[in-house]
Amino acid sequence: MCGIVAVTGYKKALPLLLNGLEKLEYRGYDSAGIAIINSENNCISCEKAEGKLKNLINNINDHNIPGTVGIGHTRWATHGKPVVKNAHPHTDSSGNIAVVQNGIIENFQDLKNKLEEEGIIFNSDTDTEVIPHLIQRELSTLSKLNLENNGSTLLVAVRNVLSDLEGSYALAVLWSGAPTSLVVTRRQAPLIIGLGEGEFICASDTPAIANFTNIILPMEDEEIALLTPLGIEIYDSSNERQYRNPVSLKVSEQIMDKMNFKHYMLKEIYDQPQTAKNWLENYLIKNSDNGQYQINYPFDTKFFESIERIEIIACGTSKHAAMVGSFLLEQFSGIPSNVFFASEFRYSPPPLLPNTLTIGVTQSGETADTIAAMDMEIKRRSSIENEKFKPNLIAITNRKDSSIGRQVSNIIDICAGIEVGVAATKTFFAQLLSFYGLAIKFAQIKGNQSSEEIDKLINELKNLPPLLEDLIEKHNKSSEKLAHDFFNIKDVIFLGRGINYPIALEGALKLKEISYIHAAGYPAGEMKHGPIALLDKKVPVISIASPGEVFDKVISNAQEAKARDAYLIGIAPDCKGTEIFDYLMKVPSSNEWISPLLNILPLQLLSYHIASHRGLDVDQPRNLAKSVTVE
Ligand code: G6P
Repeated sequence: MCGIVAVTGYKKALPLLLNGLEKLEYRGYDSAGIAIINSENNCISCEKAEGKLKNLINNINDHNIPGTVGIGHTRWATHGKPVVKNAHPHTDSSGNIAVVQNGIIENFQDLKNKLEEEGIIFNSDTDTEVIPHLIQRELSTLSKLNLENNGSTLLVAVRNVLSDLEGSYALAVLWSGAPTSLVVTRRQAPLIIGLGEGEFICASDTPAIANFTNIILPMEDEEIALLTPLGIEIYDSSNERQYRNPVSLKVSEQIMDKMNFKHYMLKEIYDQPQTAKNWLENYLIKNSDNGQYQINYPFDTKFFESIERIEIIACGTSKHAAMVGSFLLEQFSGIPSNVFFASEFRYSPPPLLPNTLTIGVTQSGETADTIAAMDMEIKRRSSIENEKFKPNLIAITNRKDSSIGRQVSNIIDICAGIEVGVAATKTFFAQLLSFYGLAIKFAQIKGNQSSEEIDKLINELKNLPPLLEDLIEKHNKSSEKLAHDFFNIKDVIFLGRGINYPIALEGALKLKEISYIHAAGYPAGEMKHGPIALLDKKVPVISIASPGEVFDKVISNAQEAKARDAYLIGIAPDCKGTEIFDYLMKVPSSNEWISPLLNILPLQLLSYHIASHRGLDVDQPRNLAKSVTVE
């Protein structure tokens, strides 16, 4: 989604900004722009371009911009089409103030109407453009108080404007009146300040900073900061100066390296055996006293004892991981559990029940709906005095330094390393593993599962890495061939049951996200209640058939599809019953509980190869963003 980079210091701003923006490309965007205080005349020079960053770079190549203070932005359109006039930075009428914004100004229309009544002419359709005009108005009011033109005055002006803005946002502001200063602020949107060598570089996401420094100052919600080459002043919403120590960033986790892979997505699919090894190393610990394995999550799990039910909040792929997790928690560990789309939960939460654990699942830790839903749940539970209704929270995330990391103290860090491909693969896998850990933990504490079954599950988890390596190696080749036959299809149906129903949903989501082919996942038993009407020989059906409780049922449902001439692809071990499939993507035979961790890999590879065969931008599919920071 939108990305911000801003810099002030002694080095040339342009290359720093472009480098930072390049690192934000993976988040998804449709236009880009920069503004720099031109050191030759102290005026703001602004450049914007539609589409990819390379278009912006081509524009700038003609006239290099000297200056050491600047802001940059990648825009993912919300208000107004992805065209140059809507790209950030936005300026006031005089062009002396430039602003980049992530988020949404919810009351922008009211503000715009008032400004238009005052004679301001708007040049874009964005919500953001009200901000430079409001700052300009504020600066002219302040000038009547004979305040000096400097960064402190800009800080006061921006702060005064913030009280008029509704919504969540991160902002960076330049003013030619204070040519070495930069003002940045955030409300429910991420922003961090990096302390470089000769520059302060501020960004909405760590990869934009990681090339320059590993020392950062995270900004708390509703803080505002003034950055000049001489230092940083941070203030909270009550205008109290804040002092805090810098923290270091684990740079290895932020560095983007495609190695020799054609796309990040393929590399990240290949990373999954290592993801499993990391999880086993970090979280599965042998108790030296009794030789038993235990899940070593970094918080006191005593509170689990009083938990009677679980609610899980997530979006997109994280929601699919949550569905597998919920299945495990109910069926393996015996705890009632429900999963909610964060965007629905916000406006129609279930009635409050006592002794509930709320789990937020978000790879980025920044998804606006998930953060807001968690926030709402924390507030609604905290407002009740009865101890049984207090918020019990866990967050499962890949970014413990994110908004959800600040919101929730019990964090399961999925430790997957940065994921660049917009379509989540290794982080989905790592989220699944986190839920296996929770299911084992709950089963051990609650005693709802036999210790033999728990040991069996733990053993299968321990044995995963070589199986995964083998599976990826085999299916990378076979799915490339299959993709050759299927890259032109229009519709695909994915079927799964029980613990593999969410895997059918995730398989379909992966395919449509990156290949733009219509795909839908269904519980296999539901096919005859509607989707079957779509079937003919042009619609392949991908059926996940793992031996266990529902294997025969899935095979019968596949028969029904075959009777309608559908081409049947099976994701299953080579066992009796699977001869029905026209094509079998073989997975190792396993305990049914563990099967999602194997079944997802061929589905990821198939989607990848179909999209790649279609010549599409696999890592940055159209219209999608890696981290959706608006509602
Ligand atoms: C976006 C991404 C998806 C992701 C979803 C939730 O839509 O494109 O890949 O699953 O957001 O993201 P989160 O960071 O909360 O897991």
